[in-house]
Amino acid sequence: MEIFLDGADLDDIVRHKDLIDGVTTNPSVLSRHKSSEHRSIIEEICSIVTGPVSMEVNSEKYADMLEEGRRISKIHSSICVKLPCTFDGFRCCRALSVDGVPTNLTLCFSAAQAMLAAKCGATYVSPFLGRLDDAGHSGLSMLEEIVEIFSVQDYETKVLAASVRNLQHVIGAAIIGADAITMPATVLKQCFDHPLTAAGLEIFARDYSLCDTSQTRH
Ligand code: G3P
Repeated sequence: MEIFLDGADLDDIVRHKDLIDGVTTNPSVLSRHKSSEHRSIIEEICSIVTGPVSMEVNSEKYADMLEEGRRISKIHSSICVKLPCTFDGFRCCRALSVDGVPTNLTLCFSAAQAMLAAKCGATYVSPFLGRLDDAGHSGLSMLEEIVEIFSVQDYETKVLAASVRNLQHVIGAAIIGADAITMPATVLKQCFDHPLTAAGLEIFARDYSLCDTSQTRH
């Protein structure tokens, strides 16, 4: 399962670059920076990580979206153009995939939307687990349906679990068989930090220092 960092904070990306396969951004995380800086931030991210970097279009109409998608795709060879799961987004996905531009269909909240993304040649489709949970449904159940459909139908589009809020989402996505997951730095930290690992290290360090002392005595 590919692991992406969800965000545009350069310190987070540099810190975690050895643990991740790429980065996903969205207009909300980029809006923390001036719009004139978005391109250079994305360029910087592409220079830090070797894998795909998703950048989303802001246009909503097909022609504008296609123009923006093509422009974004030229920023760097790692760019994956993020498009919404809308009628215009699916059409744009089809056009960009004909051009050979990698795409990530975002804001996916149903198996039917994921299926259309695959039919339109998306590279990734991003089911939003946390936001579907917030709306009173189960994000992981939707993910399970999508992964099963993609396996039965032999779709090539990769399923990228997004809007990940906790370790249950991470473990659930891995068990279900998602191809990729994107998580914020806070959740990634929970993947490697464990209180028993920290406590175990303290015990080992203490025992080792005692052993050193006893060796010096002899
Ligand atoms: O990048 C898209 C997605 O992962 C956003 O997550 O937490 O804002 O629902 P969230």
